[in-house]
Amino acid sequence: MVTGGAGFIGSNFVRHLLAADPAVRVINYDALTYAGTLANLEGVDEQYASRYRFIQADICDADAVRGVMTDENVDTLVHLAAESHVDRSIAEPGAFLQTNVMGTYNLLEAAREVWKGRDDVRFHHVGTDEVYGSLEPEGYFTEETPYNPSSPYSASKAASDHLVSAWARTYGVPATLSLCSNNYGPYQFPEKLLPLMMCNALLETPLPVYGDGKNVRDWLHVEDHCRALDLIVRRGEPGRSYNIGGNNEWRNIDVVELLCDLLQKARPPKQVKHYRELITFVPDRPGHDRRYAIDAERIRSELGWTPAWQFEDGLAQTLRWYLDNQHWLDRISREKYDGRRLGLLG
Ligand code: NAD
Ligand code: TYD
Repeated sequence: MVTGGAGFIGSNFVRHLLAADPAVRVINYDALTYAGTLANLEGVDEQYASRYRFIQADICDADAVRGVMTDENVDTLVHLAAESHVDRSIAEPGAFLQTNVMGTYNLLEAAREVWKGRDDVRFHHVGTDEVYGSLEPEGYFTEETPYNPSSPYSASKAASDHLVSAWARTYGVPATLSLCSNNYGPYQFPEKLLPLMMCNALLETPLPVYGDGKNVRDWLHVEDHCRALDLIVRRGEPGRSYNIGGNNEWRNIDVVELLCDLLQKARPPKQVKHYRELITFVPDRPGHDRRYAIDAERIRSELGWTPAWQFEDGLAQTLRWYLDNQHWLDRISREKYDGRRLGLLG
């Protein structure tokens, strides 16, 4: 059972699981909030009819979760459902507490009850490196770095991580936890940096870079994240957490400039000479973390994982996907999000 399987990482993970192992059956459990759409799973139903089922339900609905886990005989639960956008969490934190904290609690309680006494089962919780807070120019997050979240989003994710650890220690739920850096790739909702910049650039509207543009993120292709999750679910040690990162730090301004250059070659603009002219510095995000960087030595040495995508190639592939799937982008922009700035304090 994959929660949040209609979102960005979830839909990539569902495809990965079904393609990688013909023995796997996937139940995709997703409420289809603004961030989830079945358009992310086009063709999956048909291609994997006997091994795939979608269920529209909320992780906060205790009866629904227990019912699905029991009826479908779920033995592995990979939990990705979440409210995931920092700016939205600044504007409206309530939904983050409800889904990320109470929803995770609800899943853990269902696992405790439905899996009572079993050790051939696994609860994997997908977390973020943002729980560690902000780094100075030097140093890396390890699994021992103390939690120090800055945003309502990361605070709610930190709370959910603690619940997972507590349910593992206290009730013996066989659980693992992963903490991943910023993902990019196909099907990412256009409120996040890279798809937002692609959307705006294609419309030749301003590219809003927060603050001085020197905040640093460690970018990882979503397929590399999915491979890491698969490995942890199969071979990770219960009770253990694993950092996942690309060893690929970029300042925001440099990423946006690289994107402009790639787009310039792929689809030259009509109104401006170069996409870089559209870059506009805008007021900073409140509580904006300066730098994230992951030490992924544990998952490398214990499970043999390393990222396969090189960033420039991955970004070019992602850009190509967005250009080839303009209908997807148009539909999302029309129905779900108009690109408006969120999370500035009044
Ligand atoms: P997303 O916003 O694209 O997708 C979230 C999905 O969860 C959507 O399909 C949505 O419909 C579903 N959902 C939301 N609330 C729900 C609820 N109450 N019940 C059932 N389903 C619900 O998010 P994403 O970027 O794919 O992130 C997935 C997970 O990975 C999240 O837990 C996030 O914290 C974590 N993560 C994301 C990144 C990243 O860079 N995107 C990095 C590290 C960790
Ligand atoms: P985002 O994609 O929201 O991910 P996160 O905040 O979880 O790291 O943002 C990535 C970085 O890009 C972050 O430092 C904020 C910055 N950013 C902008 O400069 N402009 C934008 O329009 C957005 C959405 C983000």
